[in-house]
Amino acid sequence: MPKVLIIGAGGQIGSELTFKLKDIHGSENVVASDIGYHNLEVVNSGIFEIVDAQDYNSIKICVEKHNIDTIYLMAAMLSATGEKYPMKAWDLNMNSLFHVLNLAKDGFIKRIFWPSSIAVFGPTTPTENTPQHTIMEPTTVYGITKQVGERWCEYYHKKYDVDVRSIRYPGIISWKTMPGGGTTDYAVEIYHQAILDKHYDCFLSEHTELPMMFMDDAINATVNLMQAPAEQVKIRSSYNLGAISFTPLTISEEIKKHIPDFKITYSPDYRQQIADSWPKSIDDSAAREDWNWNHEFNLEKMTTEMLKQLGRKYQDSEINS
Ligand code: SER
Repeated sequence: MPKVLIIGAGGQIGSELTFKLKDIHGSENVVASDIGYHNLEVVNSGIFEIVDAQDYNSIKICVEKHNIDTIYLMAAMLSATGEKYPMKAWDLNMNSLFHVLNLAKDGFIKRIFWPSSIAVFGPTTPTENTPQHTIMEPTTVYGITKQVGERWCEYYHKKYDVDVRSIRYPGIISWKTMPGGGTTDYAVEIYHQAILDKHYDCFLSEHTELPMMFMDDAINATVNLMQAPAEQVKIRSSYNLGAISFTPLTISEEIKKHIPDFKITYSPDYRQQIADSWPKSIDDSAAREDWNWNHEFNLEKMTTEMLKQLGRKYQDSEINS
């Protein structure tokens, strides 16, 4: 059994990854960690440690204490917040990656998962069916950190034989933990507002198409990649991963099938420019060929699930309040 540490376990993807990895490896083999106690469901779900992703010793102490051999580094500052705090985004996203890469290089851990993003692409990248290998000139701080991070992952793999694996996540849609500071966050907010208010004022324009994915698919992809035999993981920078693509207009039409009087309005802000620099759809054939990636959720299935789960969640919180 691997002994796993999740850094950033309180976040949108980290939290669900924590629950999934506990199911797979057993709760006693999974250590959740974050910079604070903000996600109580995660904190109370088993072993939890405070770890500062920017502090090498903070990570190393935790690794040694729990005999960790695998790290999932899920802490990062995303695209929208990164534009407000460029140096903080650079420091957090790069320092944390170097710390785990160096822990692996120095023999303290064996395997790393580190997420990259569609943000590695930029305005000069082909936008439809964006290939695995293509022009990458990211224009956001977040995208720059992810692109540079990919280069370092491949470098550490080639030079020091570090077993690091990575996926370029598209926008991830989920109902358990809110995303924070991303440009694709609208596609989560819209479901919450549909239930709470039957109205959503979108910060992207109606025809802005972006690659997206339901959380269950993202978690399955992550687990499958980490469980694949090393020789099947041929790409050591980061794998393109696609599932669905839609615009604010098409997601609102899908929601209207469930909530007919739902209304969407549009007030594009600074995030529009970020979204405009990203692909519309992704060619993920390398992931499908190398480690049998396949997605399950389309827009219809995801919308049904999101509205069902959030409906329950808000009902429960009303009963409990
Ligand atoms: N969801 C991320 C963002 O919007 C993209 O990887 O920043």
